[in-house]
Amino acid sequence: MTAAPVAVVTGGGSGVGLACATALAARGMRGVLVGRREDRLRAAASELTAPATVLAADLTQAGEAERIVSETLDAHGRIDVIVHSAGTFDKASVAEADDDHWRRVTDINLGAVMALTRAGWEALSDSGGQIVLISSVAAVQAFEGNAAYAASKGGLNALGEVLRLEGRDRGIRVITLCPAQIDTELWDGKAPDPVRARMMPAAGMGELVADLVETDRRIDIGPVVIRPVRDPWAESEP
Ligand SMILES: NC(=O)c1ccc[n+]([C@@H]2O[C@H](COP(=O)([O-])OP(=O)(O)OC[C@H]3O[C@@H](n4cnc5c(N)ncnc54)[C@H](OP(=O)(O)O)[C@@H]3O)[C@@H](O)[C@H]2O)c1
Repeated sequence: MTAAPVAVVTGGGSGVGLACATALAARGMRGVLVGRREDRLRAAASELTAPATVLAADLTQAGEAERIVSETLDAHGRIDVIVHSAGTFDKASVAEADDDHWRRVTDINLGAVMALTRAGWEALSDSGGQIVLISSVAAVQAFEGNAAYAASKGGLNALGEVLRLEGRDRGIRVITLCPAQIDTELWDGKAPDPVRARMMPAAGMGELVADLVETDRRIDIGPVVIRPVRDPWAESEP
């Protein structure tokens, strides 16, 4: 019997990452959930409908990407999908965006993605695997106060295009998604409830990712912008 495919999901303890892990588990994939808060990861893993392990790690720390890959291969023997959902959304005007802010945002949203991709490249090549980048509409649409986030997600889109080309000859498919507002805890304290109610549901994003991962591998999926049907903020204008 062939072993079930394995998905490493960063940010798997909450929001979009958890929704992706849930949808992929429902399709029979084993999960490896990565994030800093082990309690959240364990709670998430216990709800999945396929076997899952957890790896508590700060993805911005040197050596953690390599540890995640080697512990995943030790535990599961393969990596078929990496969903890069770990990220932070923190706004600051240009005047306020000091070096700490810039590094904090870009380290996790961009640097950590490259580190884990590089660490997992051979394993994905061996399995003919897939990479899903959870980028943002901010990669292609400017918002004020968003310099570091926009730069990190714009850089992620550019990285995704290079990975797509370099991955082709290795049988690795790269899917870059650029969603607008999704109702997750990332919006805690940043958007009122009525606005959040008009955002996209995280579960829908998870289903979308699982659907895309299952599509015919002869289909190449370029960066895809995904928005709520209406701007959740527009309805709340006075
Ligand atoms: N929600 C939206 O409207 C929206 C729109 C477009 C794009 N996105 C993108 O979607 C992704 C997921 O966000 P979300 O909405 O699901 O928010 P979320 O629930 O806050 O998820 C962020 C996840 O990243 C993990 N994380 C953050 N820093 C980390 C680090 N240094 N090392 C390891 N894990 C880390 C967090 O876990 P720990 O805190 O436990 O580490 C958390 O599980 C992000 O990349 C975000 O930019 C979100």
